[in-house]
Amino acid sequence: MERTIAPPISIRGTVTPTGDKSISHRAAIFNAIAGGEATVENFQPGADCKATLRCLQALGVDWKLDETDVLVIKGAGLGGLREPNSVLNCGNSGTTIRIMSGLLSGQPFFSILNGDASIRERPMARVIEPLTTMGARISARDGNSRAPIAISGGDLTGITYEMPVASAQVKTAILLAGLYADGETSIIEPTTTRDHTERMLQAMGADIIFGESPRITVRPPSHDLSPLSLRVPGDISSAAPWLVLGAIHPDAEIRVAGVGVNPTRTGIIDALQSMGADIWLEEERTWGAEPVADVVVRSSKLKHTMVSGNLVPRAIDELPLIALAACFAEGETVIQDAAELQLKESDRIKTTVTELKKMGADIEARPDGFAIRGPTRLKSAKVSSHRDHRIAMMLAVAGAVAQGETTVRAADAVAVSYPRFWQDYDKLTRR
Ligand code: S3P
Repeated sequence: MERTIAPPISIRGTVTPTGDKSISHRAAIFNAIAGGEATVENFQPGADCKATLRCLQALGVDWKLDETDVLVIKGAGLGGLREPNSVLNCGNSGTTIRIMSGLLSGQPFFSILNGDASIRERPMARVIEPLTTMGARISARDGNSRAPIAISGGDLTGITYEMPVASAQVKTAILLAGLYADGETSIIEPTTTRDHTERMLQAMGADIIFGESPRITVRPPSHDLSPLSLRVPGDISSAAPWLVLGAIHPDAEIRVAGVGVNPTRTGIIDALQSMGADIWLEEERTWGAEPVADVVVRSSKLKHTMVSGNLVPRAIDELPLIALAACFAEGETVIQDAAELQLKESDRIKTTVTELKKMGADIEARPDGFAIRGPTRLKSAKVSSHRDHRIAMMLAVAGAVAQGETTVRAADAVAVSYPRFWQDYDKLTRR
């Protein structure tokens, strides 16, 4: 699908993004092995989370998702999953394939995980290696590094694993396998990544121990985990396009309602604030184990910033949007320590630079990020999402602030994490 965008003169309004993708995957997977039924409201209805649900169905888990995004899921218990009779299709979802690898490593049966062309190019050794060390028998394509991944699980032993890459997906896979292992399993993160897994497993009664940061330990439970009913906070990664749009559009005020503001995820707000954006939180509250707020943003005069170190995992999926914001900021912005961007749904260093350059941005690719000089006035162009949902949303925002009409090719890629994106876009930018 192609989408043509005419920049709106002014923007005023409120958007409520769909539920958080990371929390939705976890709510489905963790509740699938709990001992009872859970109700998950505001479950993210994108293609990625639906891929997770389909995998769980193939493993014998009963669930129902209605059109109001309420998921009711019946936990099969820690030992209640059954061998799937076909290949598990993870679609475009890195979170599904990596977290499921951990879960399946703990199961005494055979399973195969596969996905689309993008997933089959993405690195899987980062989960396969530690899970193999724990005792799972895993083979995969390309020297055990890429999907399809075949797993014969069971008989695991706990390990202490120093993670070479900061990845919440890998952390989650190992902690899940640790639920099924003999003895303790500990992971040591190079920098803190999103901590939804720890919060949720702890709330379900798992024995999670926080050692001297960043060490996290799990002990196998002696009984089933309790089901966890929750209302999923709005996804800050889906709020992010509106936050950047509000800051860079010359006449805007946008409220994004019910956004998860877990401190391991709020790098986008910190980065925009460091650029001088007029952005603040209102109505701060908690939903279950997670902090939530409304985030309000207004047209701002931005200056350059530096994004590096610990901020990178806290804003990893928002870095293309920060690069776009930097096009409107005075001076040179540098985004570094972000080589991981090359390994996402697309090579996001390359796709961001290629597409923003078509619109006249002064942006340069670096091996671990970008350098952007601003301010520049972006101009209309025909751009492509490269079938990457985050790139599609970033280009929609770029089009809304460019001179003239912009066409985004493969604009339907947004459905992976935010199926209502274009409806919300129309609602907010209606003239
Ligand atoms: C996610 C972790 C991040 C992020 C992805 C979702 C998660 O990936 O980019 O969109 O839910 O754990 P990595 O673990 O590869 O950093």
